[in-house]
Amino acid sequence: MLGRDASENGREKLRAVVMVSGGGTNLQAIIDGVKDGTITNTELVGVISNNRNAYALKRAEENGIPGLCVSPKDYETRAVFNEKLLEAVDGFQPDLVVLAGYLVVIPPEMIARYRNRMINIHPSLIPSFCGKGYYGLKVHEAALARGVKVVGATVHFVDEGTDTGPIILQKAVEVEQEDTPEVLQRRVMEQAEWKILPKAIDLIANGKVQVEENRTVILP
Ligand code: GRF
Repeated sequence: MLGRDASENGREKLRAVVMVSGGGTNLQAIIDGVKDGTITNTELVGVISNNRNAYALKRAEENGIPGLCVSPKDYETRAVFNEKLLEAVDGFQPDLVVLAGYLVVIPPEMIARYRNRMINIHPSLIPSFCGKGYYGLKVHEAALARGVKVVGATVHFVDEGTDTGPIILQKAVEVEQEDTPEVLQRRVMEQAEWKILPKAIDLIANGKVQVEENRTVILP
């Protein structure tokens, strides 16, 4: 597109918007990845949160990334919120939308407009412990209740379902005998989420991810 910075290898920089609701540790992993070169050809052009108190917005501010709060509480109806949210996202002209701990349902119009250009990080090995009601600590509570020995995280494209889009990357993590949900969540974040989300963005920024029906092929 016109006016884009060309990056060192001639490929246009990927404009990425990150959507958050909470602490923003995944956002921080992305920020750090752009800084340390783990993520190439990428520019973080904006952060959007539904929660004005999200520490993730502070992380954006500290790193000079424009931050916006678009909250359903500020609008009469969900339809109006959906419209304003899409307007805010479009305003950044993103090539990629990254849901990093974003807990609001994505409007159908936005899923359609950003098909195969919107990714989500889920803290389990999909199709285990995913879908409606499986988010945050609930995922790890269910894993411990089931007694699984291996958990992990998944990055996938977002489609109309909940955690059902084409899988891009997954990383497994061992469950340990004395794990509590909190301890397990932290290990999954440290050993999996914060690794595969930056990696997925770098692959997409370098044209290495192809979607084939409900799967992806990662090019060498
Ligand atoms: C965490 O539960 C993480 O597993 C999931 O979103 C939640 C918040 O993550 N992906 P963050 O610290 O806001 O990135």
